[in-house]
Amino acid sequence: MAKITVIGSSSMDLVVTAPRRPNKGETILGESFKTVPGGKGANQAVAAARLGAEVHMVGCIGGDAFGKSILDNFKENGVFTSYVEPVTHSESGTAHITLADGDNSIIVVKGANNYVTPDFVEKALDVIRNSNIVLIQQEIPEETVEYVSGKCNEFGVPLMLNPAPARPISKDVIEKAAYITPNESEASILFENQNLHSVLMQYPNKLFITEGKNGVRFHNGEEEVVVPSYTVEAVDTTGAGDTFNAALAVALAEGKSFIESVQFANRAASLSVTKFGAQGGMPTRKAVEESL
Ligand code: RIB
Repeated sequence: MAKITVIGSSSMDLVVTAPRRPNKGETILGESFKTVPGGKGANQAVAAARLGAEVHMVGCIGGDAFGKSILDNFKENGVFTSYVEPVTHSESGTAHITLADGDNSIIVVKGANNYVTPDFVEKALDVIRNSNIVLIQQEIPEETVEYVSGKCNEFGVPLMLNPAPARPISKDVIEKAAYITPNESEASILFENQNLHSVLMQYPNKLFITEGKNGVRFHNGEEEVVVPSYTVEAVDTTGAGDTFNAALAVALAEGKSFIESVQFANRAASLSVTKFGAQGGMPTRKAVEESL
């Protein structure tokens, strides 16, 4: 069984469905409001657990009711939570999501996720050292991403960096990560003013650029390849990227080839968008295998 550690955010998603986005200064009537568990780190942890991995989450929740629901949700999904700590003086992270015109727009307030510091992660070094793969994203402090990339490098544990939300990253972190998984706009921020085809060639079997409905692009050492995505009726695309990252990590940790791993991850991501909520449609292992 693949052992995966996720270091990242755990939040509550506050989701409004509306016929359209309001203009500046305008009030409109929405259709529904729901709170569902989210946060890129938590989403990736839950997705990997549903796909059959042993998953350890390293993260912080607020000392509020959202924090308790987030923790319960980890447990319900079989994610190990020894390194998920309540921060009593902070509110939980929240993501304020508008679903309109077939897509989402999101404002994240990091809250307790700001406390996922290098000192905090240090407590989990044993579990990190014993992982087949470590997954990290960018809803936690930048210095933590730097610290974890150094530690994974030292331990010889592959690090998958999902650089979302986008921010510039040091060359050192880029070099130390084993896998980097931006979408197209994140890739253009990460590799500003560089030709993405040349960048892909520079990082074979390491840089995987997700292009939504068009699939996933990477360089296999000989040529650039695009692994097509699957066409489905999308209900809510929130969390599709997280499902892709988790599934890619699970497949690679199990020793699948790069092509097989990306196909597996594309399939899992396509299933995830067929239900409401970031985690609502995240598939089980059985569901992915049956649909492949
Ligand atoms: O990737 C999707 C996630 O991003 C949502 O669940 C929301 O929490 C935001 O952080």
